Amino acid sequence: MHLTNDEQDILSGMRGEGLRTAMEIAVKMGELYGARRLLPVKNAHIDAASYTTIWDAGTEFIEYLVSNGAKVAVPTTINPVARDIENWKSMGLSKEFSEKSRRLEDAYISMGVIPTWTCAPYQCTGAPAFGEILAWSESNAVNYANSVLGARANRIPDLIDVCCAVIGRVPEYGLYITENRAGDILFRLEGFDESWFCDAVDYAVLGYFIGEISIQRNPVIEGLPEKTTNDQLKALSAALASGGATALFHAVKLTPEARTLEDAFQSKTGYEITKVTPGNLIDTKDKLTTAAKGKADMVLLGCPHFSFDEIREVRDMFKGRKVASATKFWIMTSMIMYDLAVRAGVAHDLLDAGVEFIRDTCLMVSDTDKDWGFKTIITNSGKAAQYITGLYDMDVAVKSTPECVDIAIRGEW
Ligand code: F3S
Repeated sequence: MHLTNDEQDILSGMRGEGLRTAMEIAVKMGELYGARRLLPVKNAHIDAASYTTIWDAGTEFIEYLVSNGAKVAVPTTINPVARDIENWKSMGLSKEFSEKSRRLEDAYISMGVIPTWTCAPYQCTGAPAFGEILAWSESNAVNYANSVLGARANRIPDLIDVCCAVIGRVPEYGLYITENRAGDILFRLEGFDESWFCDAVDYAVLGYFIGEISIQRNPVIEGLPEKTTNDQLKALSAALASGGATALFHAVKLTPEARTLEDAFQSKTGYEITKVTPGNLIDTKDKLTTAAKGKADMVLLGCPHFSFDEIREVRDMFKGRKVASATKFWIMTSMIMYDLAVRAGVAHDLLDAGVEFIRDTCLMVSDTDKDWGFKTIITNSGKAAQYITGLYDMDVAVKSTPECVDIAIRGEW
């Protein structure tokens, strides 16, 4: 790989061991992918934030970098940690577990990261511009940045994301290269009336369905309504990236590299075409639902982390009603969005209705060894549905957001 004089100096250790280590790892990854050079980035987003993602070994690696002088070279946001930093006790986490998370949080803050602790940084600190080169990880965020914003990012593996933030560069491969951003497979929506695609759940289920077929290919979606919101595209991004390994999709007439079908495929022809019908989404929702009808232990919203608009919409759905006494209702979000909800009086209304806010973290990256005492979870998120059944001995039901609210009030589904 070609390195500039400056990059060679860093690799030789002239700027300190922390920077050298980060450069060596990033260069090794670049060589593995056949990158010709490193690209400078404007900002970074780190996925490797939760203690239960990188454990003690990962924490020691971050501390090693910090103790050897490593600082992030560009503005760097970061994913949810393993606890609600202010309310870890009310989550039922142990002091010992909380301390492990705190140790990692401290190391990142010493490194200079912006403590956003959210998986939707693009809704918190300003979204990247079209064409901007990013050192991002977190699968939903990478997919959203590439697809909805037209910025350029790869799914950088955990801890290598930290190295890229420290050197302010990424190896040039994958989706940084224009021709790799062309669509590979077309999904044509057919037979959907206006009752579809009004709620995040339809986007989540569609994403899961397409992700399973696309795997790592770039899907192009034709037929989504033009009124689709960014929050709905967020749900689609997350599910595409968890149902498959999608890091870029195009939605014709909605996303910036897909003004036309021809644009989306960069004029390629002969691509595979898959028809998507309401029946496919009904089947996919049934497949994601593992719970038997009955008691709802928890309603879980905010995967990815909820925006202010989403919190406000849920408040409006309650219409003064309250969560059933035996049911928990968690909204997972960032501290930034929570603060906005407090200022607008929305958080107060929801707390009054019996909703709890889980800030800085989520159920899926918190204490995965803990017995949370929940068996049946109702969610509107395809990603949460998949992760919960993989991580915990719990069952899920996938429902629309208004259905989630109604179920919470009844305490059963
Ligand atoms: Fe975010 Fe946790 Fe879902 S990190 S995308 S809320 S699994």
